[in-house]
Amino acid sequence: SKSELRYDNQTVVVTGAGGGLGKAYALFFASRGANVVVNDVGRSFQDEKGGDKAADIVVGEIKAIGGKAVANYDSVENGEKIIETAIANFGRIDVLLNNAGILRDISFKNMKDQDWDSVINVHLRGSYKCARAAWPHFKKQKYGRIINTTSAAGLFGSFGQCNYSAAKLALVGFTQTIAKEGVKYNILCNAIGPVAASRMTETVWPPEMLANISPDWVVPLVAVLVHSSNSETGSIFEVGGGHMAKLRWERAKGLILKPDDTYTPGAILQQWSKISDFSEPEHPNGIADMMEKLKEAMALDSNDTNVETLDFTGKVALVT
Ligand code: NAI
Repeated sequence: SKSELRYDNQTVVVTGAGGGLGKAYALFFASRGANVVVNDVGRSFQDEKGGDKAADIVVGEIKAIGGKAVANYDSVENGEKIIETAIANFGRIDVLLNNAGILRDISFKNMKDQDWDSVINVHLRGSYKCARAAWPHFKKQKYGRIINTTSAAGLFGSFGQCNYSAAKLALVGFTQTIAKEGVKYNILCNAIGPVAASRMTETVWPPEMLANISPDWVVPLVAVLVHSSNSETGSIFEVGGGHMAKLRWERAKGLILKPDDTYTPGAILQQWSKISDFSEPEHPNGIADMMEKLKEAMALDSNDTNVETLDFTGKVALVT
């Protein structure tokens, strides 16, 4: 239909597109006119053999519906080769979906360097390498769209996944910074924390849940975020099963103490509840917001002392 969001003449690179969410993205963008680079190392998330032709199978499905796609089997750790595939085949890159991922779940006590490094390398370094290679093209054409894939595990922590959660929250910081650096070149970057049935989650969730969280229900939000009409950048969204919502930081009202010799651990203890009082929340989105708080502290009257407001009755020992 004439009113659908289209991506004609654009090139979309999807990492980890041999299955799961990546495959859903690849099929969608190809069906909406984009040239798609279907990247996947073609192994399972636990590094088992099999599925070696995953990207070719997806490319075959795209061609069968009249779309344009090419397979790429490089690891995202060699992101420049993936971007080269886009340029060599389609002459440009417009959208990068950093989606590839692995799990090496293990309790922190038993974690080995190999478990840590492989997860950090695929998710964090891989996303960096792909974005870094795409960046000069984006900058030159003054157009680029990047999606990084975070996770509830990163945003909130998750038992047995400290490697994965560290990588996933690092991607939020990465997203927010390159969003700030890219905006003047019309390079927009957002992070999504998806929930979807895939081989990564099929052993974790019950079948009745999996039936309602198709990867297809993550795709439309991503499609909006990478469309030329979008101006949203540096944001985090959770999305899955038809639910989608933006997430942000929240700061409590907080406690301001005058930095003098009455600024003691005891003075903090006396007013501890203010530190976590979220009844008047603020939603900071830059270091400048913190500067305002520092100015407030510096502006406290020279007669102010941090202990004078304490109700020291003599019954309670004054802790300093
Ligand atoms: P999936 O396992 O089906 O897809 C990941 C794909 O990445 C696989 O096809 C795999 O072969 C590929 N891959 C692994 N290492 C690679 C590398 N070095 N280079 C290129 N490709 C590589 O899993 P799913 O669920 O589709 O995951 C997609 C993304 O979504 C991942 O980043 C994952 O962490 C994230 N995610 C998924 C959630 C879910 O509920 N499915 C929840 C939160 C995050």
